Amino acid sequence: MAQSARKPPPPAGFDRDRFFANTFIFQKWEMFDGVFTPGINCLRDLCRDLRLPEDLSGRRVLDIGAWSGCLSFECERRGAREVVALEPMPAEITGFDRIRRAVGSTRTRLIRGGVYNLNPAELGTFDIVLFCGVLYHLRYPMLAIDNIRRVCRGDVFVETLVSDAQVMVKSAGGLSRVALESVAPLLLDVPLWQFYRRDEMDGDRSNWFGPTAKAVLEAFESAGFAMTLLKNWGRATFHGRVRAGLPEFLHLECTEADHYDSVLRPIFGQDKEAWSAEQLAPPLSLAAPALSDPGIERPPPATPAARWWAAAKQLGKHILGEAAVRRLRRAG
Ligand SMILES: C[S@@+](CC[C@H](N)C(=O)[O-])C[C@H]1O[C@@H](n2cnc3c(N)ncnc32)[C@H](O)[C@@H]1O
Repeated sequence: MAQSARKPPPPAGFDRDRFFANTFIFQKWEMFDGVFTPGINCLRDLCRDLRLPEDLSGRRVLDIGAWSGCLSFECERRGAREVVALEPMPAEITGFDRIRRAVGSTRTRLIRGGVYNLNPAELGTFDIVLFCGVLYHLRYPMLAIDNIRRVCRGDVFVETLVSDAQVMVKSAGGLSRVALESVAPLLLDVPLWQFYRRDEMDGDRSNWFGPTAKAVLEAFESAGFAMTLLKNWGRATFHGRVRAGLPEFLHLECTEADHYDSVLRPIFGQDKEAWSAEQLAPPLSLAAPALSDPGIERPPPATPAARWWAAAKQLGKHILGEAAVRRLRRAG
């Protein structure tokens, strides 16, 4: 169905200027047929650049940093079964509740909170996570990305400022922006995060990091997504799919994985294996005998079982934790 066909007409007597007086809005969204919210971030362009499916029927969606919720309401309009709009700012400031009532939304709800507090035990998991215009505002970006992985069971769509074409450098006249391509093209393929200590980026103190597109890709890959860069124009859009199994950084023999109990559990509040309980359930039962006897013969390669036997060797109690191994031994 064409998008324009789905926009309801404005209610009788709807006065856009009065409705939005004293409300700051980021997004420009066709709220009613021919009536747009007064923000600058055009949602039609954003949805196109994200390649957000026209049909979201049956999907459970999380919109992180939703502000007034226009992207969330757009997902509801595209058929989403349920939309959670996560936003630290109160609805009185963002106008979320008034817009929700005006458009007659019934499947979108606002949760006051931030990306660091995402908890699958409270919110459940989501088919689609939207993460637009938020990454560079975070002082702890990897914590946010790892948290997104915890609640995502399908697709993540990301839009963010990227620094490829705008690295901030000191020059005679103060700070200026340079394109990596013009000074060091090789660095375009290096995952770099420029740190903004003060208000270097756009005079805005809420901007903390400017990642290159490569850095965004690698960060989400490390957190357990298979990523694709969609478009890069100073900002950039990305699509990711959850990879089955533990996030990559928990497979590696690095300190975050080795010292999960002391470093990460207090933050994430869960066993390592709970990161991917849904995807791991069948493979872990296959892996159980290998875990209890690492020397056991493995089936010939190239079968799905063989792949999981190989994974089992890599997993091990060192990575999974004692509790998981005990459970597996009982199950095996
Ligand atoms: C530039 S606006 C982007 C709004 C909207 N997602 C869009 O793309 O138009 C940044 C949003 O991120 C929210 N935000 C800032 N820090 C956040 C955090 N730690 N967790 C979740 N949202 C956050 C802000 O309140 C604001 O709504």
